Amino acid sequence: MSTAKSEIKKVTTHQLQEMKNRGEKISMLTAYDYSMARILDAAGIDVILVGDSASNVMAGHETTLPITLDQMIYHASSVIRAINRALVVVDLPFGSYQGNSSEALRSAIRIMKESGAHAVKMEGGVEIKESVLRIISAGIPVMGHLGLMPQSIYKFGTYVVRAKEEEEANKLLSDAIVLEQSGCFGVVLEKIPAALSKKVTASLQIPTIGIGAGADVDGQVLVTHDLLGINNEFHPRFLRTYANLQKTISTAVTSYIEDVKSKNFPNENECY
Ligand code: KIV
Repeated sequence: MSTAKSEIKKVTTHQLQEMKNRGEKISMLTAYDYSMARILDAAGIDVILVGDSASNVMAGHETTLPITLDQMIYHASSVIRAINRALVVVDLPFGSYQGNSSEALRSAIRIMKESGAHAVKMEGGVEIKESVLRIISAGIPVMGHLGLMPQSIYKFGTYVVRAKEEEEANKLLSDAIVLEQSGCFGVVLEKIPAALSKKVTASLQIPTIGIGAGADVDGQVLVTHDLLGINNEFHPRFLRTYANLQKTISTAVTSYIEDVKSKNFPNENECY
C-alpha cells in the first residue's frame, strides 16, 4: 500500500537534533533539480542541500561565485516540488548576504518565500553573526558552514585542507561556538583534519555535518554527482564513489546512436 504524502513524517531541524542526541548519523546529499531530488527523497535521505555547487555542477563555472539568488531559487523550487520527507536546505549564494544583515535577511526571505525551502545555509563565522541572528529572528532556520568555504576561494587561493595550523583551528572552533550561540541548527565542516572536527563536534550541542572532515561528526554530506561518478575528473581523498554513471550513460548513449544510425531504432513494436 502506498503511503499518502500527508502520512510521511517529514524531517525537521528538531529531528536532526534528536538524531545527534541519540547518536544516529545524519545523511545529506546535494540536489539541484526535480528528478534527482525525487530519487534521493524516495531513497530516504535525511537532508537535501541545494548547494551553490550548482554553479560548478549544473552551469559549468569554475567556482561557486557566479551563481545568482534567482538561479538558486529556480533550483530550490524544482527540488521542493519533488520532496515528501527530506529537509531542504538552500545555500545563500555569494553576494546575497555579505553586504549587511538587511540584505542577508531579504535574500533569505526570498529563498523561503519563492522556493518553499525549509532552511538556508551560509558560509562564515563571527563575521556573519549579525546576519545569522537577524535571519533566525525572522523564523528562518540557518545552517553554518566552516572550514573550506568555496565562496572565499580567492581569499584562500587553493582548495587544500583548512585549519591544519593551530591559529586557524582555534578560530574555527570559536566560530562554531558563535554559530551555535547565534541559533544555527547545524554546521557543515568542510575539508578539515578529522581530529579538529571531532573536537568541534564534542564541543557543540548542535549537529555537525562533515565533507572531508572524518568520521567523528554527526552526519556526512557529498555532492551527489561526485558520489554517482557523473564527473570522473574530481577525485579528492574524501570522496567515495558509489557508481560510475559517466560510463553507464556514455554506453547507453553510444548504443542509442548506433541503433539510430543502423536503423535498428525504432523497431515495429516501438511504432504506432
Ligand atoms: O554547495 C555545496 O554543495 C556545499 C557542500 C559541499 C557542503 O556547500
